[in-house]
Amino acid sequence: MMQKLPKNWGGEKRLQLGRQTSCKRNSGKLGGREGALFRGKEQEPQQQDFSLLCFRKVLGKNMEFISPTVVIILGCVALLLFLQWKNLRGPPCIGGWIPWIGAGFEFGKTPLEFIEKARTKYGPIFTIVALGTRMTFVTEEEGINVFLNSKEVNFELAVQNPVYRTASIPKNIFLKLHEKLYIMVKGKMGTFNLYRFTGQLTEELHEQLENLGPHGTMDLNNLVRHLLYPVTVNVLFKKGLFPTNERKIREFHQHFQAYDEGFEYGSQLPECLLRNWSKSKKWLLALFEKNIPDIKTCKSAKDNSPTVMQALLDLLEMEANEQKSPNYGLLLLWASLSNAVPVAFWTFAFVLSHPNIHRTIMEGISSVFGTAGKDKIKVCEDDLKKLPLIKWCILETIRLRAPGVITRKVLKPVKILLLLE
Ligand code: HEM
Repeated sequence: MMQKLPKNWGGEKRLQLGRQTSCKRNSGKLGGREGALFRGKEQEPQQQDFSLLCFRKVLGKNMEFISPTVVIILGCVALLLFLQWKNLRGPPCIGGWIPWIGAGFEFGKTPLEFIEKARTKYGPIFTIVALGTRMTFVTEEEGINVFLNSKEVNFELAVQNPVYRTASIPKNIFLKLHEKLYIMVKGKMGTFNLYRFTGQLTEELHEQLENLGPHGTMDLNNLVRHLLYPVTVNVLFKKGLFPTNERKIREFHQHFQAYDEGFEYGSQLPECLLRNWSKSKKWLLALFEKNIPDIKTCKSAKDNSPTVMQALLDLLEMEANEQKSPNYGLLLLWASLSNAVPVAFWTFAFVLSHPNIHRTIMEGISSVFGTAGKDKIKVCEDDLKKLPLIKWCILETIRLRAPGVITRKVLKPVKILLLLE
């Protein structure tokens, strides 16, 4: 069972248990400190009997008073032993000395660094106790299939609280609608249907690139945001939804970034403790509230297929939960932008910092689309298939730079790499 435990951990725990049992073994019937005290001194047999007698007398006299106390103490000891026994079967556990808070402060300051340090120290699977929650991390590919395929772990129950805190969607509504919404999003955006987006995506990208002009020294992070925020919003929600006015664009950037950066805290702490984050959340909700009627009525110019947000609104209407439309809009906005933007940024950053790879990619693009000219490039799936290096670079970037957290709630103990959680 414990084969995979790091050297120090299981040993330390076993040692602790060992100490307690040895106490019982060495100290005879009375057990604990009393027994050791009696034997420690070289006592006369008579003296020893007397002491025992006294002890029994005292015990008898105060039986009524002592017994509940003794029962409570024994109960606590039994509970501690049980918890230690349970821990011995599970992965290494990192807590802290403050009850409930556990490792919350250290973990909250720099979560990714904390996880990386824990991984180096304790191995690929470990548990962190923070703010009353036990979180077990499976950090390597090995064993991940058990985690992904197990029926004893659940996505919806793991995210219902964070969804409530970050998007104010009550748990009962979230649980009722999740499966239907998941099927809809997967149906519209699954691998086999992605080709439907390429035309509109290229068109929107051309529009944004034209606005930039031919020269510039914008910082890469800003450039990616300036391109992808409007493109994603206009494609997934409604063409023309993203603001075009300079001041409104700035406001959108500022509020989305504040919301995204505070998301981890927002998913754990009450909103009243995060004033700025809450302000940005309300700003984004108000933006959707104002635009929902327009998104609903606007039909796609080319074909009649609704956008992802329009399909989502139809579902909410059917399920009589329309009042939560802005909240679902906010969730969809965050799910798309919070991943797509950093992945695009890091892919560009890696490619640009490897001139040979950059050159090979550019040569590949020229061989498929011709050299850069005035004509707008039209991208389709078959063209992209001829450029596998681009796809490999994106996948490698996700592996290196987007530590995706796949969250599940453990319903029953699951065995991964011979450890139980
Ligand atoms: C490179 C970009 C992206 C990455 C790395 C990424 C990664 C992830 C991950 C790791 C999850 C959690 C999956 C799980 O727990 O099983 C997730 C869920 C989700 N993602 Fe993405 N994502 C990306 C882009 C997008 C985009 C563009 C959308 C647009 C709609 C999107 C929509 C969603 C939704 C709706 C969920 C929740 C699924 C559910 O409710 O079960 N993602 N994504």
